[in-house]
Amino acid sequence: MRELFSLAGQVALVTGASGGLGAHFAQVLATAGATVAVAARRDDRVAAVVSEIVSTGGRALAVSLDVTNPESVAGAFDVTEQDAGLVTVVVNNAGIVGGERALDVSESEWDRVIDTNLKGAWVVAQEAARRMIAANIGGSIVNIASILGFRVSGRIAPYAISKAGVVQMTKALALEWSRYNIRVNALAPGYVETDINREFLKSDAGAKLIRRIPQRRIGRPEDLDGSLLLLASDASGYMTGSIIPVDGGHLVSSL
Ligand SMILES: NC(=O)c1ccc[n+]([C@@H]2O[C@H](COP(=O)([O-])OP(=O)(O)OC[C@H]3O[C@@H](n4cnc5c(N)ncnc54)[C@H](OP(=O)(O)O)[C@@H]3O)[C@@H](O)[C@H]2O)c1
Repeated sequence: MRELFSLAGQVALVTGASGGLGAHFAQVLATAGATVAVAARRDDRVAAVVSEIVSTGGRALAVSLDVTNPESVAGAFDVTEQDAGLVTVVVNNAGIVGGERALDVSESEWDRVIDTNLKGAWVVAQEAARRMIAANIGGSIVNIASILGFRVSGRIAPYAISKAGVVQMTKALALEWSRYNIRVNALAPGYVETDINREFLKSDAGAKLIRRIPQRRIGRPEDLDGSLLLLASDASGYMTGSIIPVDGGHLVSSL
């Protein structure tokens, strides 16, 4: 069964891998045998993640990437291709969150969130697919959506809207790229403690939120490992356009 989820011989690129879930995903993919391009803007953090992966016997390279800049995205794929080979697994993980009421969201804040979470994921997926198609080699794109792509919460409108866009983008790209043997699926995590939400989860509102999760706890990064490996590997060979919630039952909670 281990073979089923193996990524041996694959080159994976994880965006936003300088910390949080992205750093964890990079480690998981490396443990499954992939050579991993650890990509984000903060080069020092990226280098630390690469060292950690290499120290545990994995293969990884550091890649400087800003997903809001298409030239930076193309450059990141160039560097990865030169050093490791064609990228056949992409984890579109880079993401940011804003905390304003809808009425107070400035145009620049809207642009920042949408450009990173939605347009950024689009540009990365398009760059990856163009290269795979040119090489006549298929692959797997895993978009990191969120349960907030399905339900809403206060003070998070641009984020929730961007993640709903990621859900629909996953289906649209799956439809068009099946013919090239490129599968496009998404994970929709519930709340997992990272820098993106640490302060919020410590607050009263955070404690209240945890009580609404059927499993009564927030997720741990490891809770996503099984679904990530499923979607990244050939184990999901007949899945494309699927969105898998991993949320302790949050989406089915009626509260
Ligand atoms: N944590 C959760 O509860 C949760 C739940 C559902 C979905 N998610 C999603 O999971 C993903 C990771 O979130 P996280 O919780 O791990 O957040 P995090 O700890 O804040 O990490 C976000 C990552 O995105 C990178 N990033 C931000 N802007 C970028 C840009 N323009 N170009 C490249 N990288 C960029 C950051 O790296 P640099 O600053 O170094 O570039 C950082 O590594 C996000 O898409 C988030 O929406 C998280």
